[in-house]
Amino acid sequence: MTPNHQVERAAQILRAGGLVAFPTETVYGLGADASNNSALLNIYRVKQRPTGHPLIVHLADAQMLHRYARDIPDTAWRLADLFWPGPMTLILKASRETSRVLTGGQETVGLRVPSHPVARSLLSAFNAGIAAPSANRFGRISPTRAEHVAEELGDDVDLVLDGGCCEVGLESTIVDLSTNHTRILRPGGVTRSQIEAVTGELSSDTAGNLPRVPGSHASHYAPFTPLTVVSPQVLKQQLLDCADSQARIAVVSAHPQPHSFRGAAWKMMPTTCREYGKQLFATLRELDRLRCEKIIVESPPLTPEWDAVNDRLARAAG
Ligand code: TXA
Ligand code: MG
Repeated sequence: MTPNHQVERAAQILRAGGLVAFPTETVYGLGADASNNSALLNIYRVKQRPTGHPLIVHLADAQMLHRYARDIPDTAWRLADLFWPGPMTLILKASRETSRVLTGGQETVGLRVPSHPVARSLLSAFNAGIAAPSANRFGRISPTRAEHVAEELGDDVDLVLDGGCCEVGLESTIVDLSTNHTRILRPGGVTRSQIEAVTGELSSDTAGNLPRVPGSHASHYAPFTPLTVVSPQVLKQQLLDCADSQARIAVVSAHPQPHSFRGAAWKMMPTTCREYGKQLFATLRELDRLRCEKIIVESPPLTPEWDAVNDRLARAAG
């Protein structure tokens, strides 16, 4: 785990306008001082992300919402009470003081209180908001281990705090409370039904056509190797086809590799959505390194608790 002096050093780097990657319970974030525009621009540059795509601000506690948001609805406080610290981001109307570099020029801001102990100590040492997108280049898979960040960003980041494997492994659930029409923009660790227990039933239009949410771009979370998600029946057929053609393929499945088929890099996944979600991104990175012709993923169940996993798989396939 990260020793205290490392956290102090990280806070100093942030104060000086540098970039620090840090673990959260969802994925690793690429952090900068949320009030320092040149540091924020540096995040966009390092991520190679268009500046119109807003960053999430990480806070030590919900009371800090007042600094960044205005006209905070009652629903926000109720959701915060229940799910913070934790894997949920709220989109609220931005306060006047909030940097428009941070919000991608919009009048709304994304805010979240993470639960990872290292993120929490960093936030309390820094004592102000830390802007942090996932610590990957634009359009690539989010990092769930410190090594992933180091591999992908190298010297572009001043310090990487190592907090081990991320517990959730998929990015936070994003709830848009900035209009009268509450929506879930991205499914994540907090499920739709948990959110609806507070907000009442929500319409099921998600981020699909919201250009301001990079996660909504079809190419997002993509490995370099072409990836498809198929039913168990189609998987069987494709295994037979590949055996004939001698193609090098990788398979992600909840089942063990069949004895009759040994010609693939086979990743057997857990059967619970929690464990599956935790391992998914690391698994895709590992298989991507093998440079197979394709990655075939056997479709997990299509039930609501698998929404976040299926969402990321669909984007990886896009
Ligand atoms: O779990 C997470 O949310 C991770 C960790 C590091 O906290 N962060 C993360 O950040 O996934 P990022 O930038 O990779 O994705 C944040 C998403 C983006 O799709 C962004 O467009 C959206 O949140 N977002 C941020 N502010 C927004 C706003 N004001 N309106 C709409 N979408 C917003
Ligand atoms: Mg991201």
